[in-house]
Amino acid sequence: MKQFLTVGDIGDLGKAIEEAKQVKATPFAWQELGRNKTIILVFFNSSLRTRLSSQVAAQNLGMHAIVLNIDKDSWKLETEMGVVMDGDKTEHLREAIPVIGSYCDIIGVRSFARYESREFDYQETILKQFIEYSGRPVISLESATRHPCQAFADLLTIEEHKTVARPKVVMTWAPHPKALPQAVPNSFAEWMKAAPDVDFVLTCPEGYDLAPDIMEGVTLERDQKKALEGADFVYAKNWASYEHYGQILSKDRSWTVDTEHMSWTNNAKFMHCLPVRRNMIVSDEVIDGPNSLVIPEAANRVFSIQTVMKRMLEDLSRGK
Ligand code: CP
Repeated sequence: MKQFLTVGDIGDLGKAIEEAKQVKATPFAWQELGRNKTIILVFFNSSLRTRLSSQVAAQNLGMHAIVLNIDKDSWKLETEMGVVMDGDKTEHLREAIPVIGSYCDIIGVRSFARYESREFDYQETILKQFIEYSGRPVISLESATRHPCQAFADLLTIEEHKTVARPKVVMTWAPHPKALPQAVPNSFAEWMKAAPDVDFVLTCPEGYDLAPDIMEGVTLERDQKKALEGADFVYAKNWASYEHYGQILSKDRSWTVDTEHMSWTNNAKFMHCLPVRRNMIVSDEVIDGPNSLVIPEAANRVFSIQTVMKRMLEDLSRGK
C-alpha cells in the first residue's frame, strides 16, 4: 500500500473491516513489523484524535512516531510553486518534503481545505506534493477533501454496533458557527456508498449538496424528518457550501440533532467524528445519552490507522 487517501486505496471493504477487528483484538501482535521503522506525522492544522491515535497505533506496531507541527515546530513553509519568496515563508515544501522523507519510512499528513479556492482545495495540491516528492508511502490524516482514517473508523463502529444486517445510516447536516471543510462528509459518503450492506441517506438544506462525484448514487432527502425516519445510525456533521464554496448559508438550529430528532428514528445510535459543538450540532441529552457512540467511534481511530500502517509496513518488509 503506497498511499491511503480515499476509499479506493483500501481495497475490499469487508476484508479491511475484518483486518481492523483483528488488529483491535490483538493490537501488539505485529510489533516486529515496525521495529527500527519511523513514521513522521506532519500537521498543518490542529488535532486531538488523529494525532494521538496515530501515535498510539505506531507505538502498537513497534514504530517510532515523530510529530511535526508546521508553523509551530518548523519553519513557515511556502506551498505555491513559482513564487518569489520575499514574505514570511522561510522554506519551500519542495525541499522540506524530501528532507522529511529522508528521515522516515512512512509519512502522515494533515492539511485542511483553505476555502480560498475550490480548485486549489479539490486538486489536493499539498497532499499531491507529499506523494510526488517524499519517496515514501503517504497516509492522509485529513486532507482538503477527504478524511479516510475517520471514515474507516466510522464504518468499523457501524459494523460493531449494528443490530440489523443492513442498517439505515443517515448523515445529516447540522449548524455550526464556522465554515468547516467537506473532508469528513465527503469521505463518510464515499465509504457508505462502497460498503456492501448499508442503506445510506444524506439530508442537508438547499445549497449544501456535496461535490457532484460524491452525490452520484447518494439518496438525498431534503426533509430531515423524513430522512431520519427508521434510521439505525444518525451521523451528524456540519460542512460549508460546496456550490457557494466555503460559505455559511444557514445556521438553522432546527437541524440540531436533539431528542425529538432521535425519536423519529429506529432507536438510532448517534455518531459524530468530534470535535463537536454541543447544542449546535447535537443536544447535550443526545450526545450524553445511552445511544451515543462518539467515544467508541473516536477509540476506533487507533485501529483504522493501525490497519493502514500495518499494510504499509508489510509491503515495506516485502520490498514493495
Ligand atoms: N475527528 C478528528 O479527526 O479529530 P481531530 O481533528 O481532533 O484529529
